[in-house]
Amino acid sequence: MARDILKTLQTEHDTLRKLFSQINDTTDRALKTRGALLEEIEANLMPHAKWEEQVFYPAFAERADRDGLKTHAEALSEHHAVENSVIPEVNAADLDTPVFAGRVKVFGEMIDHHATEEEKTMFKMARELFTAEERADLDEQYESWKQSGEAATLIAGEKAKLRGQGTSKSLQ
Ligand SMILES: [Fe+2]
Ligand SMILES: [Fe+2]
Repeated sequence: MARDILKTLQTEHDTLRKLFSQINDTTDRALKTRGALLEEIEANLMPHAKWEEQVFYPAFAERADRDGLKTHAEALSEHHAVENSVIPEVNAADLDTPVFAGRVKVFGEMIDHHATEEEKTMFKMARELFTAEERADLDEQYESWKQSGEAATLIAGEKAKLRGQGTSKSLQ
């Protein structure tokens, strides 16, 4: 089967949905499991979101019509809300508390909503705006970017930012 960036991004959405359903099933005593799952969620989400922001969204916006630009603005706005508000709140909560359980539930709901919008609107439009060959090319670029030093540095920086926010506990 030919490779396709839209399929890859959709598969990554499904992985995230599965991880959120696992973390939502944990009890307040499952400290280690929650910590491991949260790390896995962030490790899956960060490259996905950063590459969308830096490569896929701009490429999409360049070809989009008015409806496409509206969808693009919505998607970016959701990325910002998750990065600047939802994730810091999750990281500021102690893992073994109902506060964490509530915040991580909202995190999962936001991601599911956002991913569904992308799949139903943006990816649908992108299927018309990009040829199969272009989608295969983007898929290859994404794969090599994920293995690059640039991606590693970017993700390490994002993680450091999160840990900085997480230790302050200012939101509790
Ligand atoms: Fe996105
Ligand atoms: Fe996405």
